[in-house]
Amino acid sequence: MPTAAQSSAMNLRYSVRLGTPIAALMLAGAGLAETMESTSTQVELGAYVARASGCMSCHGEDLSGGYRIETPMGTIVASNISPSGKYGIGGYSRDDLAKVLRRGVSPDRRLYPAMPYASYRGMTDEDIDALHVWLQDQDPVDKEPDHATDLPFPFNIRTGIMAWNWLYLGDRDLPETDDPVLRRGAYLVDHLGHCGECHTPRNGFFVMQDDQYLAGEEIDGWLSPNLTAAPVTGIGTWTEQDINDYLRTGHAGNVVQAAGPMARFVEHGTSHLDEDDLAAIAAYLKSLPVIEAGVQDMPAIPPVAEREEPRHHYGQIRAEMAQTLARGDLTEPEQLYLDHCAACHSVSGKGQPQAYYPPLVQNAALRRADAGNLLQVLIHGVPAGKLYRAPAMPGFEDELSHDQIAMLANYTRTTFGERPDSSLTAADVQRAIDPEDEMPAPLRTLQVAAWVGLIGLIVLIVGGTMIFWWLARRRGLKRQEN
Ligand code: HEC
Ligand code: HEC
Ligand code: HEC
Repeated sequence: MPTAAQSSAMNLRYSVRLGTPIAALMLAGAGLAETMESTSTQVELGAYVARASGCMSCHGEDLSGGYRIETPMGTIVASNISPSGKYGIGGYSRDDLAKVLRRGVSPDRRLYPAMPYASYRGMTDEDIDALHVWLQDQDPVDKEPDHATDLPFPFNIRTGIMAWNWLYLGDRDLPETDDPVLRRGAYLVDHLGHCGECHTPRNGFFVMQDDQYLAGEEIDGWLSPNLTAAPVTGIGTWTEQDINDYLRTGHAGNVVQAAGPMARFVEHGTSHLDEDDLAAIAAYLKSLPVIEAGVQDMPAIPPVAEREEPRHHYGQIRAEMAQTLARGDLTEPEQLYLDHCAACHSVSGKGQPQAYYPPLVQNAALRRADAGNLLQVLIHGVPAGKLYRAPAMPGFEDELSHDQIAMLANYTRTTFGERPDSSLTAADVQRAIDPEDEMPAPLRTLQVAAWVGLIGLIVLIVGGTMIFWWLARRRGLKRQEN
């Protein structure tokens, strides 16, 4: 990847001037070549910035938009940001893009903070320049996203975002450091990677609470875990290599795999980063102030020394299956596991790591005290594609009843996840399918107040008009009488 320093060195070279016409001609040729070289360097840097910022995890690989972000207020849809003149951002100047990224203001409207500009605010000028060049260099997609943003009154009035920005958008109080590696890590985590948008707890107005930076948050049925190095509730037992592997491949140490929104982010974003940047992210996360937060009661992944090597040999899956099928005394959960899971994860839960079917023994998804993400995985599955050739895990929402899914979750958590007990029910599965995302109280109050205000205004207008007519009529009648 070209560094910003390299590209500015190139810019400097343009300004050299020579006296003779021949030299000027030579320079013109060389200058053109250098301009092209500089543009292509910027395109390359821009592509990298887009990856590090995860633009494609919301706007799609072709930038045509359509990804729906479910918030308790309603659905917000990512826009088409391909350079289409009509449907995308074809007409954007570099400054238009900077305004979107730093203030959430596009040429024709104010954007909801679901577009993570509260984090992108800290992007450098060089990165924004390059991103702009790269975005305009992509193929336009001339169509609208399939869905449209749908929020109820008063949240559908975008002027309200002005108040949010005025109150909450500002320079943030995040950990500072002089170490160049940690600084790079901080830039990637705090700004480009906008990790805090999912991993930092928010208050009732959806404002990230920086005193709880990266301590874990739940959004739309998914828990984004505590990323501080807290030994039990956070990533204290993760090595820097684990973090690095997880962000590069979505898998780490045979004990944890990324699913849901994190899988998207790994696929479209972090898996494209270079080794130095991944190492910087890992180092920065490890350096953050430790915050004990969350319900986790044992480390989600065991320390390296306690990890079991998933030993498996050719034909093991079939042999185990045959043996187990021959048993006449299978319990209902055992039978369900055999029918629906064992072909990939094996009866003994050792999986087939060489083919990316992960072991369930010691699996973080099964060791979590909060079973929300496990239920999401069993319901929706995990799409293929995070890493080259990695297969998908199917979802079981249509195939199994809520009861059966709960039974399988309980069975796998206690059998492979070392959890002492698990008593999930069909109701928990229903809640995972349809998270009753209650609107936080302050926003609910705001909504009620807005309705009361609106109704008051209508009463005022209608009442005022009636009084006006009544007065006008009385005057008219009086005039007739006279
Ligand atoms: C977490 C998901 C998410 C990520 C990541 C994201 N965006 Fe967005 N973006 C959105 C949403 C949602 C909207 C529409 C917001 C609205 O309707 O108010 C949006 C709107 C925009 C717009 C405004 C277009 C318009 O409608 O006028 C631009 C430009 C944009 N994004 C560029 C980017 C770029 C560049 C990146 C990467 C640096 C990026 N976005 C990353 C979710 C995202
Ligand atoms: C769109 C939301 C989102 C963004 C952005 C995001 N994450 Fe995550 N992250 C999640 C979710 C959800 C999980 C849980 C995934 C699972 O259980 O399979 C997760 C899991 C993780 C984990 C595993 C933690 C554990 O205990 O299992 C790490 C490490 C991680 N994220 C790091 C990052 C970093 C670093 C960034 C920024 C570069 C980032 N995430 C950005 C949503 C997000
Ligand atoms: C067709 C093969 C297949 C079947 C059948 C299957 N899985 Fe998976 N499973 C996978 C793959 C592949 C992954 C890893 C996905 C990834 O890359 O993250 C996975 C991941 C998991 C994970 C870890 C998810 C996470 O969040 O980290 C759990 C737990 C799991 N499976 C449990 C089950 C259970 C229980 C069943 C039976 C109901 C089952 N699987 C059936 C292929 C399968």
